[in-house]
Amino acid sequence: MAIFEIKNKEFHYNGEPIRIISGAIHYFRTVPEYWEDRLKKLKACGFNTVETYVAWNIHEPKEGEFNFEGIADITRFVKTAEELGLMVIIRPGPYICAEWELGGLPSWLLKYTDIELRCYNRTYLDKVDSFYNKLLPLLKPLLCTNGGPIIAFQIENEYGSYGNDKKYLNYLREGLINRGIDVMLFTSDGPTDIMLQGGTLPEIYKTANFGSRPEEAFDKLKEYEKKGPMMCMEFWNGWFDHWGSEHHTREPQDVAKDLDSMLGMNGNVNFYMFHGGTNFGFYNGANYDKGKLLPTTTSYDYDALLTEAGDMTEKYYAVKNTIASYFNIPDDLEVENTKKIAYGKVKMEEQAELFEHLNILSNPVENAAPLPMEKLDQNYGFTLYRTKVTGPKGNVKLTINKCNDRGIIYLDGKFQGIIDRTEQGDKKLDIIIDKEEMVLDILVENLGRVNYGTLLGEYNGITENVLLDYQQQFGWVMYPIELNNIDGIQYSNIKEQTTPCFYRGSFNIDEIADTFILMDKWKKGVVYINGFNLGRYWEKAPQRTLYVPGPLLRMGKNEVVIFELHGHDGDDVTLTDRPKFD
Ligand code: GLA
Repeated sequence: MAIFEIKNKEFHYNGEPIRIISGAIHYFRTVPEYWEDRLKKLKACGFNTVETYVAWNIHEPKEGEFNFEGIADITRFVKTAEELGLMVIIRPGPYICAEWELGGLPSWLLKYTDIELRCYNRTYLDKVDSFYNKLLPLLKPLLCTNGGPIIAFQIENEYGSYGNDKKYLNYLREGLINRGIDVMLFTSDGPTDIMLQGGTLPEIYKTANFGSRPEEAFDKLKEYEKKGPMMCMEFWNGWFDHWGSEHHTREPQDVAKDLDSMLGMNGNVNFYMFHGGTNFGFYNGANYDKGKLLPTTTSYDYDALLTEAGDMTEKYYAVKNTIASYFNIPDDLEVENTKKIAYGKVKMEEQAELFEHLNILSNPVENAAPLPMEKLDQNYGFTLYRTKVTGPKGNVKLTINKCNDRGIIYLDGKFQGIIDRTEQGDKKLDIIIDKEEMVLDILVENLGRVNYGTLLGEYNGITENVLLDYQQQFGWVMYPIELNNIDGIQYSNIKEQTTPCFYRGSFNIDEIADTFILMDKWKKGVVYINGFNLGRYWEKAPQRTLYVPGPLLRMGKNEVVIFELHGHDGDDVTLTDRPKFD
């Protein structure tokens, strides 16, 4: 057992002064087979601590159904760090931001109409309590006070950027303490008065999050944290990308310079991110700015010290050199980049239309008005809203209030247009009803719920109503399409198709390695490898390839399924040995 504490404005571990050089790796963004590799590289770079958030929504995908296995096996991640001699910092949310769907909150919370997120609201806190009742007993034996590697726990996340409810923060603090979390607790906030006043608690250690100007940030933090050492809990050494904008990078020397000044001021640091990883499946979050939704890309490369695929970068070595000028770095750890293989072209051999598989992929719900996804008990993916409209009535204006996030509109199966929150401009569509009865389909994609700011907690799908001119349309059948399991699909031969389709192909390998799928001939959708959802691709910049970690492949035959919404310029993909960003 060990005590990690603050004394004389320093951290002490079992009575000895210690500095924290930490890096963030989110276990839920890297396949478990690679956890050891990434953690070893952290250690070999001179770090002594790993920090991770806990993403509630992967642990409780449906209310009351808990998952702590596979990529959700947090105790295995912590123990792997321990075996390498690393200390661990846990940031257990309940909200984590992190460019992760709904900031890590499970979307099923939203079906409770009296819920208010991130404040002292009984419904919300009851759900937090039942999650903490499962999570914290798993982590308690791993606390340093019980002989494990965990030295500290965060309360909430950058709460001052969101609210000012101290009763809520205190409730979370008590919830940790009452469940036996007796290690150091802390908060982290932006280095401004309003944020530090809103997000902190009087007796709880305070840290700050920032990417540059560490002197100024520590000066501000000092006004609020008078007893402890200075710590940057999120040193943004890179940044994330949105679909439709440029790929972010930051110069290694710039990062090394800011690190040097933090270390020179006796500071402590947690790199956000040491290794970013991937937003697999539908787990990316989104921002919202100036009337536009900005969904985060599948890659969470972050221009971090390790790439999305775990490779050591120039920034890795620049940071290692800076750390080495202050501390001894163990030189007995052998680390190398994992092998990458360009397996070449994979041709899609078969296809299956989404609209012909609705009853296999979905349990439809009927209702007069359209219902949002959350009221259909749907977490992620797509919802098809179907109704019959009468005619003929010529040209009418279709308005969807609101279409969250991207609706593709069909009349009698014929594509009419797209209403997309990631684009500015007219959110109405002209359609022509020229028959006595026509089927109106609106296929709405949840592009990733907002993870930051006041739109946190809004509904997805169609949230209010659908109008033809001024008239509300009633009588809907809704098909929730989560795409968790696509096994039941019946494929047939490839033919020209413009409605959403699954395309299937395969490739054979005699050596397993990492690879990247180049999606340059495809428009928008998701890709499955051997049944695992790798995440979204989109013809919008900047991400052109999807990362395929080697452990998802097997010797011999491997299956690729592409779910494409719009059509394609060729029927193959290329497996290459490097990522491509624009
Ligand atoms: C904040 C949040 C993090 C992350 C970063 C940006 O600091 O606390 O979760 O969203 O911004 O990457």
